[in-house]
Amino acid sequence: MSAVTRQAVIDKLSTIKGPDREGDIVSRGLVSEIFIADGKVFFSITVPADRAQELEPMRQAAEDAVKSIPGVAGAMVALTAEKQGGGMGATPQPQAAPRPQQRSPAASQGQQPAKAGVPGIEAIIAVASGKGGVGKSTTAVNLALGLSALGLKVGILDADIYGPSMPRLLGLKGKPEMVDSKTLKPMQAYGLEVMSIGFLVEEETPMIWRGPMVMSALRQMLRDVAWGPLDVLVVDMPPGTGDAQLTMAQQVPLAGAVIVSTPQDLALIDARKGLNMFRRVDVPVLGIVENMSYFIAPDTGKRYDIFGHGGARNEAERLGVPFLGEVPLTMDVRETSDAGTPVVVSNPEGAQAKVYRAVAEKVLERMRAESEAAGEAPAIVFE
Ligand SMILES: Nc1ncnc2c1ncn2[C@@H]1O[C@H](COP(=O)(O)OP(=O)(O)OP(=O)(O)O)[C@@H](O)[C@H]1O
Ligand SMILES: [Mg+2]
Repeated sequence: MSAVTRQAVIDKLSTIKGPDREGDIVSRGLVSEIFIADGKVFFSITVPADRAQELEPMRQAAEDAVKSIPGVAGAMVALTAEKQGGGMGATPQPQAAPRPQQRSPAASQGQQPAKAGVPGIEAIIAVASGKGGVGKSTTAVNLALGLSALGLKVGILDADIYGPSMPRLLGLKGKPEMVDSKTLKPMQAYGLEVMSIGFLVEEETPMIWRGPMVMSALRQMLRDVAWGPLDVLVVDMPPGTGDAQLTMAQQVPLAGAVIVSTPQDLALIDARKGLNMFRRVDVPVLGIVENMSYFIAPDTGKRYDIFGHGGARNEAERLGVPFLGEVPLTMDVRETSDAGTPVVVSNPEGAQAKVYRAVAEKVLERMRAESEAAGEAPAIVFE
């Protein structure tokens, strides 16, 4: 495999037209620094915040073009918002009021279905994001392992029925055993109990899910599994904030939600949608994790803030939501994930594992605070 050069990437990107088809993205100065490591290419393209969606095809074209260069093993291209004075400037934020400290006993719109707890599970938390590909599954699995490292009994439920990740992330193969005619035994990995639709269907089978099937699959994975006893079940949610996600958030008796965002302002707009979704169903938001916060060059260990690090922390502060931590973009995370050995277990002393463990501690603290605020006896005792 020939080594990929930065110049080759720049040359290729010079063929991508800029917004409004004026010039190309390189000569218009929209491309950030370019990082290449092990044949993988990382950079961002600056666009106006309000045109992100419309310019997604441009981002995709740039990514595809780079991937077509011989020797390129992968590409990650992010759209980054132009900073206008006052940060998020252009976006209206009527929902930015600080969250009430107490969960209202009369649930928001009075149409909340009864959420029966799941026997054997003390608390269920969701890991969610407004948009896809921001690192939800990676965060969910490492958060679960971080909680486990703190001495808790932890399970993970892959609720992303459209694109299950847990079999790959945890290197699990085979099918779960049955305990009785309708109860499945969760799979085990690194001390976690794991359930994923990925265990139940063939990997290459295209899945067409209709609303009610989604709900029944989720209900089964939650209730027809011999979980536990578990202190915490971490649920890896599918991307998005549409009806399906909303229904899921309503179906599962959630103690709280963790929102994952990348630092770009654009992703934060989506993060805010995620936040609002949980507020609508009266689930406390435990906080925001900023993923791919900064880049650590694998050769020099030097840190680069190519994606506009810090956006999520500022936004969390502004919205009155706890900030849970910054996870750097590194090769480790991706490679260990693909190998089925998440960083928290494969390199527990590494910087990344420390970040995830610290996130886990914060999540736990917040869960305790929330259950106290709701007037429940603290379910989890953490010294
Ligand atoms: N901090 C990180 N550093 C490097 N790579 C990362 C990091 N976090 C996630 N990735 C990589 O980014 C890709 C997307 O991550 P992941 O699958 O966790 O996102 P997701 O939000 O669950 O995506 P989807 O919306 O498809 O479910 C994966 O290839 C993953 O290995
Ligand atoms: Mg995922």
